[in-house]
Amino acid sequence: MKILVLNGPNLNMLGTREVDKYGTTDLESINKELKTLAAALEVEIETFQSNSEGELVEKIQSALNNFDGIIINPAAYTHTSVAIRDAILAVNIPTVEVHLSNIYSREDFRHHSYIAPVCIGQISGFRQESYLAALRALAGYLRK
Ligand code: DQA
Repeated sequence: MKILVLNGPNLNMLGTREVDKYGTTDLESINKELKTLAAALEVEIETFQSNSEGELVEKIQSALNNFDGIIINPAAYTHTSVAIRDAILAVNIPTVEVHLSNIYSREDFRHHSYIAPVCIGQISGFRQESYLAALRALAGYLRK
């Protein structure tokens, strides 16, 4: 089983960026934790971060026939991107949306996600644990 883990804009700055909301763990550490969990679950993962909407769309398109599932933190594109939503629909790969912060306890503009309705589920608010919960849930979902 192969799962693609995607991270959107500004998540390369985790660790120093708005630590009150996102914590002090950087993306490299999150990816390391994910790889350890993936090995225990006997799942193969690839991680990718981009600040560019087009690159994220291209990565989702390239997942077709190559990955069984996608975990995505679209970051700010959650609230703006019809293009990422359409790419997920186009490849039709089971996808989980994750957020470090609870987007529903923040500003109104973060309460709407263009991505969540085309995902099998969303995990929001558990900091880096959101990613680990998503990996466990998606691997279990794909096995059943
Ligand atoms: C985020 C929440 C988004 O609203 C924000 O734009 C981010 C990070 C999160 O993980 O909590 O960049 O996706």
